[in-house]
Amino acid sequence: MELDVNNGFDVEEVHAVKVVGSELLKRLMDHAFEEENVYLEQGLMCDPDAIGIEADSKPRMPTKRKGVPITGEERPPQKKKQKYTYVSWDGKTPRPLIDTAGVVFGVLAGRPNDDEWLRASERLYEAMRIEASGANFTDESLHDPKVLHHGRGHFPAINAGITPGQGSQFPHMVDLKIYDEMISRLLKNKDLQYLADWHSWCIKAWSPDLYDRLKACLDKLHAHPIYGEGLERITPAGIFPAAAFNFGPNATTDPHRDVKNYAFGWCSIQPVGPFKSEKGGHIFFDDLRLVVQFPSGSVILIPSATLTHANIRVTEGDERASFTQYFPAGILRFVENGFRTEKKIKKSLKSHKAKLEFHERKSKGSEIGMRIWKRLPELIEVHIHN
Ligand SMILES: [Fe+2]
Repeated sequence: MELDVNNGFDVEEVHAVKVVGSELLKRLMDHAFEEENVYLEQGLMCDPDAIGIEADSKPRMPTKRKGVPITGEERPPQKKKQKYTYVSWDGKTPRPLIDTAGVVFGVLAGRPNDDEWLRASERLYEAMRIEASGANFTDESLHDPKVLHHGRGHFPAINAGITPGQGSQFPHMVDLKIYDEMISRLLKNKDLQYLADWHSWCIKAWSPDLYDRLKACLDKLHAHPIYGEGLERITPAGIFPAAAFNFGPNATTDPHRDVKNYAFGWCSIQPVGPFKSEKGGHIFFDDLRLVVQFPSGSVILIPSATLTHANIRVTEGDERASFTQYFPAGILRFVENGFRTEKKIKKSLKSHKAKLEFHERKSKGSEIGMRIWKRLPELIEVHIHN
């Protein structure tokens, strides 16, 4: 099925946010690629006072690190009193995130020029609020602690869709247990389907090669007579196999990276709910020293496995939830490795030469991966000629 969501961007009106040197980005990508699946960073939540103040005066407290963290030497050289750059964003105008080489590595995608979009976003929040109330998340005894307290913060969060792991040798649907019915209702919600499809369209518009690769992978998986059986993507026309529902009223994340996602993929994030975006709910990127205003109903796409990201809390009385879609790296590996897990491939490598070649291919993975993103002028060319 093809996407049918018409909201092009005006190539004459692209105001990029140039935020990071290409070398820094390469280092971050290398890192994400190498220690994919094993890295989890938790840190202090930034608060509204952090906007524009001296970033390094806030304590950094990485805890519970697994694998090899980004060390001080690997971080970009920073002046001691470097501030965050603040991007005031209307939540509507698309603004690509580019590195110094002009590579578009993420995008503040915005939203369609359509009043119905904001109404759909409001209705989705209401549907999530009603489901959250029915689930009685305030009674912790009723829930798996991991649903309420996790690496992203302390709010109810439920992941749905296809997962590559959870003890299985092949991708399968997440077992939602007691949340199965509520999440099924939300996934069937017409507003959610409308919003979710546009997230996929944004990837098609801003990273066409990435879109093609993810779509080809999912199409192949679904068409497989054995492994495709019973699998459903988030929307029939979309290219996301998985989604997260982050329930309000205070769904704002601690600094983290989503290390199980495809390192060069983009996850889509859409906050919903009534909150004042100039006061809270901003997304901030520690590596980029960037704080971005993030209004309700707007969409941002980022390589969430690579960039440390978090939100500023919303102010008292405001409510924020969010809906995100993502692409687990394990699904891509499984399909592109000929429907085999990496473990199975490693077992099949008998000779020393074969093992060396395998590791060499892996070490070049980040270079190959980064080529999937286009430079802004190339992207504009694509849109002019299509
Ligand atoms: Fe995230």
